[in-house]
Amino acid sequence: MKIELSNTPLLLPLPTVLVATYGKDDLPNAMTASWASPCNANPPCIGVAIRHSRATYDNIRVRRCFTINIPTAAQATATDYLGLVSGRKEPDKVSRAGFHTARASVVDAPLLAECPLNIELSWRHELDMGCHIWVVGEVQRIHAARDITTEDGHIDATKLAPLVYLPGVQQYVRIGDVVDKAFSCGRSLKGGA
Ligand SMILES: Cc1cc2nc3c(=O)[nH]c(=O)nc-3n(C[C@H](O)[C@H](O)[C@H](O)COP(=O)(O)O)c2cc1C
Repeated sequence: MKIELSNTPLLLPLPTVLVATYGKDDLPNAMTASWASPCNANPPCIGVAIRHSRATYDNIRVRRCFTINIPTAAQATATDYLGLVSGRKEPDKVSRAGFHTARASVVDAPLLAECPLNIELSWRHELDMGCHIWVVGEVQRIHAARDITTEDGHIDATKLAPLVYLPGVQQYVRIGDVVDKAFSCGRSLKGGA
């Protein structure tokens, strides 16, 4: 027997990313976002659902770009802080969180140096959903720390240790064990040769 839950956009687990932008006078800002997802392969695009009220959204409108920075489980406190405090109230929030920034190489947005994975995106589309705006950025460049990549250029998620968010219970967790090989283990159920 299953129980009915109230209607929310319930998907889990969710990623935890830091959307970084420049505000007025090139002041770096960053906000935590969990409603983020890849949404196109060619050109490569990532979408983030951002509330109208966020300083981040205003910054994206002005600069037409942003970066997505992937925090690690060890950066949970700093990440949570960036999701609790707006750059409107605390202009220094990025350095208070302990992050240093560098200019992105292609877009006009900051990279969070301590995050092992940084993605530069240029604004491509947006869709006003009501209280959130689905902002789609096109990937322009990806920077990955050497110690989180495999020899053939993929991300080793066990080394990256990304911070995973569980909505509802509002918890941050780490990723767990490898279960099986994707696009592969299901082949055993395919019919034919
Ligand atoms: C775990 C977590 C996930 C969040 N996800 C989102 C999100 O996907 N979209 C959003 O608009 N706000 C999200 N927030 C809230 C913003 O990060 C928060 O309002 C932040 O202070 C906005 O900063 P800004 O005004 O400087 O842009 C999240 C907060 C936390 C703690």
